[in-house]
Amino acid sequence: MTAYIGTPTSRVDGPAKVTGAAHYAADFNTDGLVYGAVATSTIAKGRIKQIDTSAAKRVRGVFDVLTHDNRPPMADKDDAWKDDVAPEKGSPFRPLYDDKIRFSHQPIALVLADEWETALFAATLVRVEYDAEPHVSDLHAQRDKAFVVEKPEKPRGDAAKAYANSEARHEAEYFIPTEHHNPMELFASTVIWEGGGKLTVYDKTQGVQNVQRYLCNVFNKKSDDIRVLDPFMGGGFGAGLRPQYECVLAVLGALALQRSVRLVLTRAQMYGLGHRPATIERLALGAKSDGTLNAITHEAIAETSQFEDFSRNDTGWAGLLYKSPNTKFAHRLVRLDVSTPSDMRAPGAATGVYGLESAMDELAVALKMDPVELRLRCYSDRDQNEDVPYTSKQLRECYAQGAEAFGWGKRNPEPRSMRDGHELVGWGMASGVWEALQMPTAARIVLTANGHAEVSCAASDIGTGTYTIVAQVAADSLGLPIETISVKLGDSSLPQAPVEGGSWMAASASHAVVAAADEVRKELLASAKAMQDSPLADAKLEDVVLADGKIMSRRDSSRVVSIAAAMRHGGADRIVKEKKNEFGEDSSHARNTHSAIFAEVKIDDELGVIRVTRVVNAVAAGRILNTKTAASQIMGAVVGGIGMALHEETVYDHNFGRIMNANIAEYHVPVNADVHEIEVIFVDEPDAKVNPMGIKGVGEIGIVGVAAAIANAVYHATGKRVRDLPITLDKVLL
Ligand code: MOS
Repeated sequence: MTAYIGTPTSRVDGPAKVTGAAHYAADFNTDGLVYGAVATSTIAKGRIKQIDTSAAKRVRGVFDVLTHDNRPPMADKDDAWKDDVAPEKGSPFRPLYDDKIRFSHQPIALVLADEWETALFAATLVRVEYDAEPHVSDLHAQRDKAFVVEKPEKPRGDAAKAYANSEARHEAEYFIPTEHHNPMELFASTVIWEGGGKLTVYDKTQGVQNVQRYLCNVFNKKSDDIRVLDPFMGGGFGAGLRPQYECVLAVLGALALQRSVRLVLTRAQMYGLGHRPATIERLALGAKSDGTLNAITHEAIAETSQFEDFSRNDTGWAGLLYKSPNTKFAHRLVRLDVSTPSDMRAPGAATGVYGLESAMDELAVALKMDPVELRLRCYSDRDQNEDVPYTSKQLRECYAQGAEAFGWGKRNPEPRSMRDGHELVGWGMASGVWEALQMPTAARIVLTANGHAEVSCAASDIGTGTYTIVAQVAADSLGLPIETISVKLGDSSLPQAPVEGGSWMAASASHAVVAAADEVRKELLASAKAMQDSPLADAKLEDVVLADGKIMSRRDSSRVVSIAAAMRHGGADRIVKEKKNEFGEDSSHARNTHSAIFAEVKIDDELGVIRVTRVVNAVAAGRILNTKTAASQIMGAVVGGIGMALHEETVYDHNFGRIMNANIAEYHVPVNADVHEIEVIFVDEPDAKVNPMGIKGVGEIGIVGVAAAIANAVYHATGKRVRDLPITLDKVLL
């Protein structure tokens, strides 16, 4: 039954969001709430020699100021601070743990007061004396110290030799600066002091159960002592995958005062959390004159902190996209005195594929070949890294449908050849690739005899549409109208779910809901069969579906029993079923989503002002559950890609190892005036192998390749190849 799956169903949580009924972490209130504010370090490395909180404490309304000297106890074992998302190697950051300064903007004191403004003011009165030590914060200056962290994808053949012997060659470095997520909602925790050692924590996070386990470990609590909720989230982009320090500080405050505490970070303090690591991508591509690739070398050098090894797959994507007998990949890290980088929207792929797809464009220029044609000549039907086929790969269709919708055939390949008045017009394209992941997830269905169903799962909806797709899948698998389904998410006490990220939640939650609905159907059928003269007396489970409020034979729709009658007969006024999805282990196929991005830029020939006037993103991502929310996902991701290409850059003053634009006035993200036409195409991609429902998940695939498509368009418009992001007008003019 697919009355709702595959349709553009509007967000079921839309009305709550636009009327203010949806509550975010800092919206939950209780009597006698205490407000926290954080003081942060101004040096990048060293020790706190002395911290004087007396002036802050004298402010009327201040209850206490916590530092590493006087905070309540926390676990001192590294294990306790590990979470589901933490890098495997290293020692995670611990706020107010000791006197060590590991990065600028590090929290060093928590002021607790009766009003937020009071706390914020008092935090400015905290005086610190440091023993500063020399720091490093510039990736370029430290690149010679890069070390290899992990085994890269297997090499094939001899890439260096093949490159040297290639008829066409291109070698260059591309650079992505540090970027910060800048979600609209600030990181915040409201900790409700329940008494008896119990806490309810409303925290801005992409994974409530991850935060719950983490807080229990850090504060030596039992799992039923701490409940974590985040029913709504104002944007994550990966910033909320790991537990952030605000939840630890808010709990410290609650424990110290034995009261409820709210802590909201300031926008500037959001820059003291994780970030996309600054990364150098070095590419060397060799091809025959017919455009078939002969050699691919992709090396990435990325920043990490002094205390954790953060690395993601930047370099393996070429092995998924393109055929080449000779390849070599390497991923290296450079230690800087900064906070540990974190996942940010398509981690590894957004950066790595930017390098790869920029280099492919330059190779196409060297070959005097259309960039789409070059990609078709190297097209790989197998995952070259693992030498396995794909569960499905409709990337050829993405190229074809994207090019058609964009009008690519009318492109004059000559740079600076296309104009619109005083503006140069550039058309560029790129490929995108991401993973189709799925994770163990459980869902509970409570079906009541009045025909209402409540579906619940600990998963968070980070704004992606999880409430809506869960309602759609439940409505279809229970045969009920969507209005009769209510969905509960973002509560650690609900059935098990992973953090929401990696684009895996759609596949994971949908299969959990279907598994639970199957259990409901089983019980309903048993009750229906037990009825006297039951029309379903000899029906097997696989022969019946739930539709229109009835249990119905697939073969003969006249053989039905109403769900209400079956429940009455079974003596149940409600059926409660909880079930985990089950995905078989299978490494015989690669599971990936793909895309082709076509971008148009218009650049003022005299002023260098760049506008992205059109983007077509053709995506192949298996079965699309909701064409409206999925298109919104891709559209939002394209906006992120525009930011990456033209605007976003965290600027350090390396003298201080400190971020100079820790605000959204000077850290630029695209605004409405920067975003013009975006067309999203979902290419039909039936996939019976990836999972039973054929779902691959969207979100991250929408940003991968976008920055390259825009950079390639800028080259086509101007004849200037800018290889370090963001492409600001000075780089085009100079
Ligand atoms: Mo996304 S970086 O997996 O939240």
